[in-house]
Amino acid sequence: MTTTATTPDLTEALATVLERRYSCRAFTDEPVDGATLRRLFTLAQRTPSWCNSQAWQVHLVSGDDVAPFSERLVARVMAGGPTPDVTNPEKYEGVYADRRRTCGHALYEAVGIARDDQEGRLRQMLENFRFFGAPHVAIITSPKALGPYGVMDCGGYVANLLNLADSLGLGAIAQGAIGMYADAVREHLDVPADRDVVCAVAIGHPDPDHPVNSFRTEREDVANAVTGLPA
Ligand SMILES: Cc1cc2nc3c(=O)[nH]c(=O)nc-3n(C[C@H](O)[C@H](O)[C@H](O)COP(=O)(O)O)c2cc1C
Repeated sequence: MTTTATTPDLTEALATVLERRYSCRAFTDEPVDGATLRRLFTLAQRTPSWCNSQAWQVHLVSGDDVAPFSERLVARVMAGGPTPDVTNPEKYEGVYADRRRTCGHALYEAVGIARDDQEGRLRQMLENFRFFGAPHVAIITSPKALGPYGVMDCGGYVANLLNLADSLGLGAIAQGAIGMYADAVREHLDVPADRDVVCAVAIGHPDPDHPVNSFRTEREDVANAVTGLPA
């Protein structure tokens, strides 16, 4: 039987990434160099998936192609309601509603938008469709035929992208908001009809001075999340 040697340094390195990464919502204009992008996406290919099906396909939009994509999405958002491929949550209740509210408040507080400032809230919401100024955005799609299993695989892929981005000194954020307007994404990027648009991941260099990057979210105590954990 083969065993993997324990490597405390590796665990510490991974712990550092898991503990310090955050959703970056303001980027500098500086593009990420090609070698770093290739490393990021090459390593993310190691993501495990059901039967190794590797459900994800990625459209990476960069540089001058970002603005027209963004304009298209903003126009779509202002024109009417969302049309997601992946079903929206039915409702957030109890602890899920609480956590959602807490993270929303932290975001608006960081950028000084009051609760009753509807215009400010709309402006901040629309930042999603500017990809928060990121020079790169990855659109993640999954085969419709794989249903929730494919979407789950894409979730693992997205988590790896986010952690890898941090480890490479980059900022990144998953954006379910982009998936809400799957029709516009599909049309703009020519996403095949047999694939679901899952979400986006904006990638770039974080703007360290922007207040939106200053807040951090909390996590539930492990004892409340894992049943059967030894004391
Ligand atoms: C699948 C997924 C979709 C998300 N979609 C959005 C989004 O559309 N807009 C946004 O501002 N944040 C989005 N987020 C970021 C979450 O709000 C964030 O991960 C959560 O509050 C935890 O904070 P942290 O990422 O800073 O640790 C998304 C995160 C995930 C994992």
